[in-house]
Amino acid sequence: MKIASVILAAGQGVRMKSRLPKVLHPVVGKPMVLYALETARVIACDPTVLVIGHGADHVRATLSNLHSLISNLQLVEQREQLGTGHAVLQARAALQGKADAVLVWYADMPLLRAETLDRLIQHHRATRATITMLTLIADDSMAFGRIVRDNAQRVIGIVEERDATPEQLAIRELNCGVYCFDAEWLWEHLTQLQPNARNGEYYLTDLIGFAARASRRIEAIVSRDVNEMLGINTRVHLAQAEKIMRERINTALMLAGVTLIDPATAYIEPDVQIGEDTIIEPNTHLRGKTRIGANCRIGPNTIIRDSQVGDECVILASDVTESRIAERVRIGPYARLRAGTVIAREVYIGNFGEVKNSSIGEGTHIGHFSYIGDAELGAHVNIGAGTITCNFDGRQKHRTIIGENAFIGSDTMLVAPVTIGARARTGAGSVVNKDVPPDSRAVCVPARVIRKLT
Ligand code: UD1
Ligand code: CA
Repeated sequence: MKIASVILAAGQGVRMKSRLPKVLHPVVGKPMVLYALETARVIACDPTVLVIGHGADHVRATLSNLHSLISNLQLVEQREQLGTGHAVLQARAALQGKADAVLVWYADMPLLRAETLDRLIQHHRATRATITMLTLIADDSMAFGRIVRDNAQRVIGIVEERDATPEQLAIRELNCGVYCFDAEWLWEHLTQLQPNARNGEYYLTDLIGFAARASRRIEAIVSRDVNEMLGINTRVHLAQAEKIMRERINTALMLAGVTLIDPATAYIEPDVQIGEDTIIEPNTHLRGKTRIGANCRIGPNTIIRDSQVGDECVILASDVTESRIAERVRIGPYARLRAGTVIAREVYIGNFGEVKNSSIGEGTHIGHFSYIGDAELGAHVNIGAGTITCNFDGRQKHRTIIGENAFIGSDTMLVAPVTIGARARTGAGSVVNKDVPPDSRAVCVPARVIRKLT
């Protein structure tokens, strides 16, 4: 049985009270719609149609650089948001005749698991029902539609909360909005939906009643996992989803051999990788495509974004962005590594060191209060406290090059472009605006080379 899928993402999400389309709101750093697309990739329906509408251009732009995410993804625009039935109808041209069944779900359910959708699909395959749907038993209705069953416990319809009678409101079985339809039946009956009398919307849920009245087979898979079925309608839901997703990520990491001292304050995004026996201290934020090696100690109070960190590193109370750090490096407390920083093994960067767009050679020490920008430092350089590269002349950035085993005295101003040769030394407080040859000592303001070191 060939299965296509339709993910609905066109609604405005009025209750978010936001200018950002709802499905672009991030959950643990990643737009909700990407969770849906990743799930789609795992369940491998073909083709997959994402129905966009509200903020369509913005959604398209966000997805444009990620098109490789799933093969055969098609974006279809629903120009007017006339309801979930109308939204699915927009996918007909793309899908009719291409699959035996159509899985429908929403892009605002980031916690929905691929395994659950797989289960739904397997059940649909096995029973060959006209509709197989996911329902939820819960005390809090979350304003979901109610599942109406007859005396024989057969599903006979769904009523929306706003259309429900008091007796129906008491029903605890809810509609999750996730269904697998027989494709031919779906396309035939979608066009027969009538607009709801109250608000003019075409309800996808009316199809359940159609099928029941025609005595078609309707199957329900009943869940009790309220968390998984959470649909994001408000920022309160968004915060709930954030918390649950974070717990999932953290649990998976702990089971994979990472110690989280306090999971409640470990903020780790879904695409982050961490090696075994690494310890994540409280209030640590690991974002984007960050990769941390094994046996590291990260935090407390550390933020690392889109960076790679080798094995056995210690990064304490520091901010690291778009940097590459080799093994056995010690950073912080209070260091800042900015984009383009490449650090070799066994480097030490102490308090109030800032490094940007620079490479730092093996074993080099930058102990205290330094700015190293647009520089290339060799191995085993010592940067004295307060040393900075004066890399910007007001118009352009210039490079500083420091050879291996150089010793830069405290408070040296390195006025770039400038090169300090290997094993050269600068005096404390010197302002170096001319190149210093290897094996030389430079002192004063501006620094003059006074003698060749033996
Ligand atoms: C819908 C169901 C309800 C179910 C609930 C579960 C209907 C009529 N009701 O209600 O039974 O309990 O989901 O969350 O289906 N969308 C579009 N185009 C539209 C309207 C909606 O793409 O014209 C998308 C939205 O972006 C959203 C999804 O469909 O992702 C659900 O829409 P929403 O308005 O939130 O439906 P509910 O009223 O919550
Ligand atoms: Ca909803």
